Amino acid sequence: MAQAAFHFPRGFLWGTATAAHQVEGNNTNNDWYAWEQQPGRIAEGHRSGLACDWWHGRWREDFQRAAESGQNAHRLSVEWSRIQPAPDRWDEDALDRYLEMLRTLKELNITPMVTLHHFTNPVWLAEQGGWENDKVVELFETFTRRVVDALKDYVTLWCTLNEPNGFLVLGYLDGMWPPGKKDLGAYFHTSLNMIQAHSAAYHAIHALQPQARVGMAINYRSLVPAKAWFPPDRWLTRLYSGIFNDTLPRAAQDGIVRLPGRRIRLPQVKGTQDFIGFNYYTRNTLAFNLLKARELFARLSYRPEAAKSFTGFLANEPDGMFEGLKWCRLFLLDTATTENGIEDPDDRLRPRYLAEHLRQVWRAVNFNWPVKGYFHWSLVDNFEWERGWTQRFGLWKLDEHTQARSKRLSADFYAAICRENGLSAEMVARYAPEAFAEMFPN
Ligand code: FCB
Repeated sequence: MAQAAFHFPRGFLWGTATAAHQVEGNNTNNDWYAWEQQPGRIAEGHRSGLACDWWHGRWREDFQRAAESGQNAHRLSVEWSRIQPAPDRWDEDALDRYLEMLRTLKELNITPMVTLHHFTNPVWLAEQGGWENDKVVELFETFTRRVVDALKDYVTLWCTLNEPNGFLVLGYLDGMWPPGKKDLGAYFHTSLNMIQAHSAAYHAIHALQPQARVGMAINYRSLVPAKAWFPPDRWLTRLYSGIFNDTLPRAAQDGIVRLPGRRIRLPQVKGTQDFIGFNYYTRNTLAFNLLKARELFARLSYRPEAAKSFTGFLANEPDGMFEGLKWCRLFLLDTATTENGIEDPDDRLRPRYLAEHLRQVWRAVNFNWPVKGYFHWSLVDNFEWERGWTQRFGLWKLDEHTQARSKRLSADFYAAICRENGLSAEMVARYAPEAFAEMFPN
């Protein structure tokens, strides 16, 4: 009998995503490491420690896992504080190690995407004011040039900044991440530096490698008004979504940074993205609330009926995936889902989450929208920032004390998807039966 299936186009990139600080271990020379040492910053006092021990070589076994399970792409990041441990010092050994990782990926037929900045900063940079200091634009450009020059034989897909929009909110408005500020002025100023650093890196990469494809990974939050009939909820939802989701990619498109009440023209920033990196996890409801002045009068929550992740951090809202991919169309560029996943130690919700989100990616692909790949977060459990080790996003489970890995059912499900270049009814029935009736009605 013919099998019903959601097929993807030939050459679709199927991978996982990781980030240096979350997997390498012993990244002692960056601002996050320092932050982890401060009491009260990380859930349960957790620390990154050895993380997944990649720096001692365990990347090898994890890449092997990725390859054996049919993945043909991997998104990883390089750690600035390793490559440039001091303003006037470059560590060639660190670059060689990344080169070896990339060479191995090539041997395994895995296409890499390399992220240049995934949240962490060298201590020396943080001491100079980090991303608030205007000098960061030039410093990031110099760093980028060095990295691209060293790795360009193996990489053409570059992501300059990971989730600059999330980084800005958490570091400069919420104060939950280093540098721990709650300062709207610093938030806006740093936004301008980030977009300029992105554009300087974009131009530097293309000068060294004309065939490069360069983008940013934006954390796309799907926002819906808590009460659709209530104008303040609707109005604030639009405002929020515009500030959070749109500001940076729109600036990279037309060179205009739209801040509340202000438009700043930066001509050099115009046209500095070749693709949209789209990170999607969840959707929030937004209610106007006079008591939330510090959060710009918004109360964010989840629809009560949506299934929640293990710690309640995320809700399973696959429709937001489709909405977000539609939003990507605004930019008339290729798109890749550069992150998507859920924290779920016992793999109760992940198979369904995966199936339902990929179905939305498939819908987008079938409208002929230029969606070129999907990177699941993550390959193996890793250090989850202020949430420490309390959240488990891996297809493989990690015991961070023994470094033992064990496969979750989702790893087999994802392997079947990668090999098949799609999802068949049989696979969904086997791995995600809860999603079956909706995906394959009758
Ligand atoms: C994203 C981050 C990534 C990881 C996932 C769960 O926002 O980019 O590093 O922490 O969330």
